Amino acid sequence: MTTFNRRHFIRNLTLGSLAGLVGIHVQARAITPKEMEGPYYPITPQKDKDADLTQVAGKKGKAKGTIIDIFGQVFDDQGNTIEDVTIDLWQANSFGKYHHPHDNSDAPIDAHFQAWAIIQTKAKGHFRFKTVFPGAYPLNAAQQRTPHIHLKISKRGYHSLLTQMYFPDHPLNQKDGLFRRKTPEEQALMTAKTTEITNQYRYDIVLAKVV
Ligand SMILES: [Fe+2]
Repeated sequence: MTTFNRRHFIRNLTLGSLAGLVGIHVQARAITPKEMEGPYYPITPQKDKDADLTQVAGKKGKAKGTIIDIFGQVFDDQGNTIEDVTIDLWQANSFGKYHHPHDNSDAPIDAHFQAWAIIQTKAKGHFRFKTVFPGAYPLNAAQQRTPHIHLKISKRGYHSLLTQMYFPDHPLNQKDGLFRRKTPEEQALMTAKTTEITNQYRYDIVLAKVV
């Protein structure tokens, strides 16, 4: 756990204990851990940044790969939901290739994959997007990045969060240098959960308030 998260965890614990004593229900939540931005934040302008990444406006055809549905809510560290949060997300296509001029891998570009979305949370902090399962990609001759989705989450009054979302039980997770650097608790907070529906994941995000 990072110092930042530990501090919030302890503060939440204290607030939770106090609330318990006076009979107030407080559902304290641990802040979603941070992760580095990586080299492929989109730099090529694109008009279509909606919540369906499996097709590109104006183009016939669908993105290749396994279509997945990801939904969740954004909370503060006291468990209150947050509306109108901006979630800026980007990921590799199903072949593990970014739509970025600096991605020199031999993996194919998928012209029908939107690759980048900017969405807002709705009432009660709900958000949802449809995408394809991101491919793993090579970091160097010895290492691969496990499948992940990059996110920048922001809202006035809260600390902006730069993170990466992982997929549960993926065999490459425990070989991924960034993932392995996190504690098991942090890994759990950064990993989406399966649902009863195939290819659907729940991923909740917790932001820290600016105090
Ligand atoms: Fe990445």
